[in-house]
Amino acid sequence: MVTVDLFEAAEPGPDAAAARAAALRAQLHHHAHRYYTLDDPEIPDAEYDRLFQELQALEASHPELQTADSPTRRVGGRVLDAFASVRHAVPMLSIRTETDTGASGAQAFDARVRKELGLGDADPPVGYVAELKFDGLAMNLRYEQGVLVQAATRGDGEVGEDVTQNVRTIGQIPLRIETPGDATVPPVPPVLEVRGEVYMRRDDFEALNARQREKGEKTFVNPRNAAAGAVRQLDPAIAAQRPLSFYAYGLGEVTPPELGGPAFDTHFQLLQTLKSWGFPVVSSVERAQGATGLVAYHERIGALRDSLPFDIDGVVYKVDSLALQRQMGFVTREPRWAIAHKYPAQEQLTTVLDIDVQVGRTGKLTPVAKLAPVFVGGVTVTNATLHNADEARRKDVRVGDTVIVRRAGDVIPEVVGVLANKRPAGAQMFTMPDRCPVCGSAAVREPGEADTRCTGGLFCSAQRKQAMLHFAQRRAVEVEGLGDKLVDQLVDTGVINTLPDLYRLGLTALASLDRMAEKSGQNILQALEKSKQTTLPRFLFGLGIRHVGEATAKALARHFGGLDAVMAATQEQLLEVPDIGPIVAQSIRTFFDQPHNREVVEQLRACGMTWDEGERTAQAPKPLAGKTVVLTGTLPILTRDQAKDRLEAAGAKVAGSVSRKTHYVVAGADAGSKLDKAREFGVKVLDEAGLLALLDGAGVDDPPNPEKTDDRA
Ligand code: IVH
Repeated sequence: MVTVDLFEAAEPGPDAAAARAAALRAQLHHHAHRYYTLDDPEIPDAEYDRLFQELQALEASHPELQTADSPTRRVGGRVLDAFASVRHAVPMLSIRTETDTGASGAQAFDARVRKELGLGDADPPVGYVAELKFDGLAMNLRYEQGVLVQAATRGDGEVGEDVTQNVRTIGQIPLRIETPGDATVPPVPPVLEVRGEVYMRRDDFEALNARQREKGEKTFVNPRNAAAGAVRQLDPAIAAQRPLSFYAYGLGEVTPPELGGPAFDTHFQLLQTLKSWGFPVVSSVERAQGATGLVAYHERIGALRDSLPFDIDGVVYKVDSLALQRQMGFVTREPRWAIAHKYPAQEQLTTVLDIDVQVGRTGKLTPVAKLAPVFVGGVTVTNATLHNADEARRKDVRVGDTVIVRRAGDVIPEVVGVLANKRPAGAQMFTMPDRCPVCGSAAVREPGEADTRCTGGLFCSAQRKQAMLHFAQRRAVEVEGLGDKLVDQLVDTGVINTLPDLYRLGLTALASLDRMAEKSGQNILQALEKSKQTTLPRFLFGLGIRHVGEATAKALARHFGGLDAVMAATQEQLLEVPDIGPIVAQSIRTFFDQPHNREVVEQLRACGMTWDEGERTAQAPKPLAGKTVVLTGTLPILTRDQAKDRLEAAGAKVAGSVSRKTHYVVAGADAGSKLDKAREFGVKVLDEAGLLALLDGAGVDDPPNPEKTDDRA
């Protein structure tokens, strides 16, 4: 078995260097096989890249160590026997990767290109095309006389696998292409190989994993592995159920211009033509001038990265002029005219130091993996939730394990995989405790429920603390400065016990706490005073009634107009509120039936909490009541949440998937399968401007309710 040595050696002597190079080659062979051939990697990409770069550096400083079989000379893994082999007419090369994730990565590339082309300071900037680096797998699509005849993976770059049957199931890949009527578009040549990336959108990936989980089958670590697994399915019927997507970014063999093939001057022109021929080309492809243009693109896409509907691990820069590309040529493994410029990795390796069980506001017990600190996705991560007993069992994370941690955007960090071969001997499987770790009350899991809960209620100090923090948060009544450290101290020292106690705090009690000066004590008192003037929805939400989120709190306030009416409402009356179902109604009723909850409400009022009760009459018009809207892609101005808020405020229901009953689909940049669905069902598609017009109640016709029309291949 091969183990990974994560320690970097100091500049080694000749013998040590030879031994290290041999060890690295063995490790890289092993991991390339796991990754490319078996679709079952043991280490994250960033780790593989590090090993690869160490070997590259060793071979550069000790050229005698280069061997014919070094992974640095190859592109990928071996071909599985089960698929027919395809020798690529034009090798499928790789691109050099620049791992410096700052501006200097782009600047260094531009400097190299200029040097290569013999350009001086006085010469104009080089024209580039900047693209996304999709995190999927490379595919060569061969069309003869406009018909897709073969799809092949990259394999080792020379020989790939014939996966035509599976690739035919990808809706975005045209089975036949035709020259459009437009005279500016060159005719489709007799032989055309289009290269691009097969990938899986994040929403498709989540849905696939949810289905796998339901069926009790293995889930996938990330969209790329899911895509690779789907492409390599021996049963194309299974592949067809795996939602894949495709983006084109280049060409393989093409009929030469002498024989009637297209003659392109630039890469950009080539991409535009591919688009005209019917291939998906990502909208964020751009022309960029010189290093400045590249840096700006890298920064802009970096800021957008997490809002894209698919994973990228960087951007790609290509010299635009094909004449200059030819002039620059290739080195062993890579073209000199292109580079992949990475972003910080969103997956890293770390170890599990412990598994804690935390108690939430509603008594929910959450197992949390305590991790050796690791820098991933731009922050240092020390915790990852394991959600509940089933999730913890499914992931089977154990103390001492080496795990892959993923953090993308604002999404909470997650353990996505365990390196089984690095598990220490005797590591124990995690089990959910049957007692609350905070108050010792029984912890129970009701049949049919995913969560285990402490039965201690307000006897449990963890639940009391969480209830206070929930009430004090910004989206509720907002007590600025009241954080978990302070609440811990207040409750643990017995200074306060219940929510209303907060409003009875005096300066002496506050100032006597650890690290609390008189000034900060005063600030807290002021913040408490300020929080007393609130709104009914904030107050209702702040009470922490199970299943009552902000939207439900707003709906309750609007429907009943005042707190007493909400508290007195029967189950039937609660069910009259839009979007409130039996479970929520029951939960509200149960909450207000508890004498101690009514007591808390009364005491809060007695402490001087007030709000305007007249909201019911001041109801805003609802121009979109009864309409269902789906959002997809990235809008130019509004964030997803802003668009959703405004739609809901106008009475619309915002749904997650498109059906024949959807009234509108609002599509932004890089909208994917939802937009396809909208077209398939004939649902009206709006851009942001259309959405704004709709919200203003202007100018958008009511969409028809069409019959299903499916005219796709
Ligand atoms: S161009 C000769 N463009 O990155 C240049 N590759 O190391 C050939 N990739 O697995 C590649 N996005 O599949 C190119 N916009 C893009 C790309 C891209 C992703 C992948 C490619 C290959 C790797 C290249």
